[in-house]
Amino acid sequence: MVAYNCGTADNKREKIVLAYSGGLDTSVAIRWLQDKYNLDVIAVAINVGQPPSSDDIVARALRNGAIKAEFIDAKKEFVEDYIWPTLKGNAMYQDVYPLSTATARPLIVKKLVEVAQKEGAKYIAHGCTAKGNDQVRFDVGIVSLDPDMKIIGPMREWVMTREEEIDYAKENGVEIIVKKENPFSVDENLWGRSCECGIIEDAWAEPPEEAWGWTTNPKNAPDEAEYVEIEFEKGVPVAVNGKKMEGVKIIEELNAIACKNGVGRIDHVEDRLVGIKSRETYECPAATVLIKAHRGLEFLTLQKDVLEYKRGVEQRYSEIIYNGLWYGVLRESLQAFIEKTQEFVTGVVRLKLYKGSVMVVGRKSEYSLYDEGLATYAKGDEFNHESALGFIYCWGLPNKTTSRAHKK
Ligand code: ARG
Repeated sequence: MVAYNCGTADNKREKIVLAYSGGLDTSVAIRWLQDKYNLDVIAVAINVGQPPSSDDIVARALRNGAIKAEFIDAKKEFVEDYIWPTLKGNAMYQDVYPLSTATARPLIVKKLVEVAQKEGAKYIAHGCTAKGNDQVRFDVGIVSLDPDMKIIGPMREWVMTREEEIDYAKENGVEIIVKKENPFSVDENLWGRSCECGIIEDAWAEPPEEAWGWTTNPKNAPDEAEYVEIEFEKGVPVAVNGKKMEGVKIIEELNAIACKNGVGRIDHVEDRLVGIKSRETYECPAATVLIKAHRGLEFLTLQKDVLEYKRGVEQRYSEIIYNGLWYGVLRESLQAFIEKTQEFVTGVVRLKLYKGSVMVVGRKSEYSLYDEGLATYAKGDEFNHESALGFIYCWGLPNKTTSRAHKK
C-alpha cells in the first residue's frame, strides 16, 4: 500500500472531516484514512431522521481513533430548508421518485463543510461508491460551498469486499458492529427509504417483502379507509387533522399514518447521472401523501397558466436536485420562481388512504379559484353562455383556415 503523507512539514497532521454513519464502511475508514493518508480524522454523524443506532456511535468513533467526533441533529433544518422547498416544487425525479436521498445530501454536505471550516480541516471524506449519484452530490456540493476543499472517497479507492473490511477491522482492532448481512443497500431519512442491490437488481422480479422496511403490505392494511386533513400555509404544511405541529412532527405523523395504510411504495428503473439504469425501490410514505395533497391544493389555488408553466419548472428542478446541483444558480433561480407561486397556496386538503392508495377527496382555501357559480350545471349558473360561441369561433379559426388552405 502506498503511504501518502498529508501531514505538514513539522509533522503536525492535517485534519479530515469524515461523513460517518457508524456502519462498517465508515468505521473502517477512520483507521484507513489515518494509515493511508496520515490524517487526523474528525468523524461527523448527521441525523436526518435515519433510525437510531444500537450503540453510541460517537463514542465508538473516538475509541476507533477519531480525534474528535460530533453528532449533529439536523432534522429541523432538513425539513425547513430542504424538504419544504422541494415539496413546494412537487419534486419527483422522472415523475416517480420524491428525491428522498438526493434532498438530504446537500444538507449533509453543508454540515461537513461547516465543521471542516470550524476545525481548519482541508479535507472531507465520504463513504460513497464510484457507481452512484451520491458521490457526485457530495463532491459537487462540497466544492460549491468551499472551492478549496479536497475530497477523499475511501470507498472509491479501496478494493475491499465486505469480508475483507471485516478482516481489516479485526487486524487493526477497529471496533465494529457486524450486523447480519443485509442483501440490500438501504438509505433512510425522514423523507423516505431507498433500497437497491440483491434480487432487486433483476428488473423483472417483483420486490420481495423483505425489501420493504417501513410500510405495511397493502393487503394487510386496515380494511377501513383512513382520512387525513392537512393544512398548508403558503405551500408549507402546518397542521395535521386540525392539530398545528412543527415540520418534523408533521412528517413523522404522516409517515406513521401512511405506513400503516401501505401507502408510499415505489418500484422504479431510474437513470443515474453516471449513465447507468438502475432498479430501485423506495418507500416515501409522508412524501407521497404530502406531494399529492400539495398538488391538490395547487389545482385549487393556482391559475391554469401558472400550473402548466410550473410543471415544466418542476421537472427541470427535480433533475437538478437529482444531479447534485442543489447549490447552484439555476436551482436557486427556479426556487425563487417556485416560492413566488406559493403566495396563495393556503388551505386544507382532505385525503383518503386505503390499502396502498391515497386520493384527494376534498380541498378548501380562502384563496380558492374554484367558483361554483361558474362551474355549476344546476340552478344559479353565472357563466355567460353566449360568450362561448364567439370564443370558440376565434379559438378554432387557425384550424379552420389551415384546413381550407390544405384542401386546395
Ligand atoms: N438512487 C437514489 C438516488 O440516487 C438512492 C440511492 C440511495 N443509496 C442507497 N444505498 N440505497 O437518490
